[in-house]
Order: sequence, then structure tokens, then C-alpha cells
Amino acid sequence: MKHLKNKTIWITGASAGIGEALAKALAIEGANLVLTARREDELNRVASETGLPQEKIMILPADVTHLDETASLTNQVIQRFGTIDILVNNAGRSSRALAAETPIEIDQQLMKLNYFAPVALTKAVLPQMIKQGSGHIVVTSSVMGKFGTPLRSAYSASKHALHGFFDTLREEVSDKGIQVTILCPGYIKTEVSINSITANGDNYNKMSRYQQNGTSPEKLARRVVKGIKRGKREIWYGGIEILGLYLHRISPYLLYQYLKTQHRKNAFLE
Ligand SMILES: NC(=O)c1ccc[n+]([C@@H]2O[C@H](COP(=O)([O-])OP(=O)(O)OC[C@H]3O[C@@H](n4cnc5c(N)ncnc54)[C@H](OP(=O)(O)O)[C@@H]3O)[C@@H](O)[C@H]2O)c1
Repeated sequence: MKHLKNKTIWITGASAGIGEALAKALAIEGANLVLTARREDELNRVASETGLPQEKIMILPADVTHLDETASLTNQVIQRFGTIDILVNNAGRSSRALAAETPIEIDQQLMKLNYFAPVALTKAVLPQMIKQGSGHIVVTSSVMGKFGTPLRSAYSASKHALHGFFDTLREEVSDKGIQVTILCPGYIKTEVSINSITANGDNYNKMSRYQQNGTSPEKLARRVVKGIKRGKREIWYGGIEILGLYLHRISPYLLYQYLKTQHRKNAFLE
């Protein structure tokens, strides 16, 4: 998809952070946008800040973990715009808890939001893309979808699972004109750490110094727009932490030794 003008692009997690930045970057490309998240007031704010006229933007508030609502949401988008060209599965949440102290219900909660919700929405949208003979599914994983770091077992597992599903899907649908792009951001300056889930289900409520000093979501969004146009299989983007992805390929042993020393210094709580 070389041009995004007038393409219908549905973004989840569009009320803040990376999703918000993506909405604004895609608006500049002249796309029609569908914005989903739970907070309708924030979606309205983002919509007005895109500067798009009303006929090019649709607010579709939803909790993406309500998996039985995906068909009805999809129909609403098709009724409004006639097509769905790109689905960006971006809504998600991180975790801050030791595996040994995390009740299984927390793992299940995160798996539902970070893994089952994108899978369910993708399955709801695919019949329309197959009918069109074109489409593009984007999903936001993470550097932690490639390797695990302490205190993020539930988060890292849910992001790893995305790679298994979406890598397979890419092979299955490429001859139907459908592309799949997996985003692996490093530390991006959003409220993701504040919104992270802890062992008792509460928010972590602390701004991580890594996110605080991280890459701006706007920079990431510009890179993602380029990557979508080029049909990239994966997009790795962030700061020095991206080197971890390369080190993981070359020597997982060295990477995990380094992560262990960081854990001893409590770096993953910062
Ligand atoms: N920031 C980073 O360093 C980083 C790095 C790698 C990957 N990521 C990934 O990037 C994605 C976006 O995160 P972010 O950094 O932008 O964090 P964020 O600022 O906390 O944004 C999270 C977004 O997800 C939405 N959301 C959460 N639960 C939802 C639900 N049940 N239903 C619908 N929407 C829901 C939130 O909207 P509402 O609260 O309005 O529902 C919000 O729009 C996530 O998948 C995250 O794992 C982030």
C-alpha cells in the first residue's frame, strides 16, 4: 500500500500514547480513521486534534476484551466506510510483578487484552479483507515479544504469543493480498508503565525512567507509517534497547546474563 489517502484504518488503543500518535500521523496521510478504546472523551479529543473533517473519522468506543462484540464493531465500520483497509491492533497493557507472586487470573487478564483481543478482532475483519482481495493487519508487540525480562512474565508471554499467531497468519493470507506487520517498539514515552498491572490487579502507577527518557510516540508513528507503506514484516524501533534484539540473535546467553545483573540492581522496577 504505497498511498494511504482515503484508506480506512481502524486503530485500537487510539485514546493515548502510541495509538494516538499513529492516528495523528495517519491523518496527515489523508486516511479515514476509526478510533477505538474505552475512554470516549479521550477518543473525541484525539479525533479533534487530528484535524480531520467529521466524514473522515469515526469514534468507536469499546473494550476490546469483550470478544463477543468484534463482529458487531466490524459491521459498524463496514457500514460507515464500506471497506477496512488496515487494522492496527494496538490496545495493550504491561505488567510489573514477579511470576511467583502473580495469580493466574492476572496472566489470563493480560492474555485476553494483549493476545486474544487482537486475534478476535483480526478474525472478525479478515472475511472483509479476503472479500476485498486486499488488506493489512498491524499488531503492536514489543521488544519483550522477542525475549523476556524480569517482572514482565505475563506481558512478555502475551507479546510472544502474538508472533506465533501473526507470523503464521502472514503465510496463510499473503496470496489473498493481505499483509501482516508486527511492531516491536523499545521504550516509548507513554503512560504504559503507569497503567501496568501488578500482582493484585492494581495499576503500577509509576512513570518508568526508561519510558520517561524513551523515544517519542510521534517518531515511532512516523516510522510505522513508512513501514506500513513498504509492507514490512516487522518494525523494530526505539533507542539503545533495540540492540537487545540483535544480541538475542547472536548470543541469548550474554543477553540473559546482562538482564540478570540488571534484575539484581532492581532496574526493572525503575
Ligand atoms: N510505551 C512503550 O514503551 C511500549 C513498548 C512496546 C510496546 N508497547 C505497546 O504499545 C501499545 C500501546 O501502549 P502505549 O505505550 O501507548 O500505552 P498507553 O498510553 O497506556 O495506551 C494504551 C492504550 O490501550 C487502550 N486500552 C487499554 N485497555 C483497553 C481495553 N480493554 N479496550 C480498549 N482499549 C484499551 C487505552 O485506552 P483506554 O484506557 O481509553 O481504553 C490506550 O489507548 C500496547 O500494546 C503496549 O504493549 C508500548
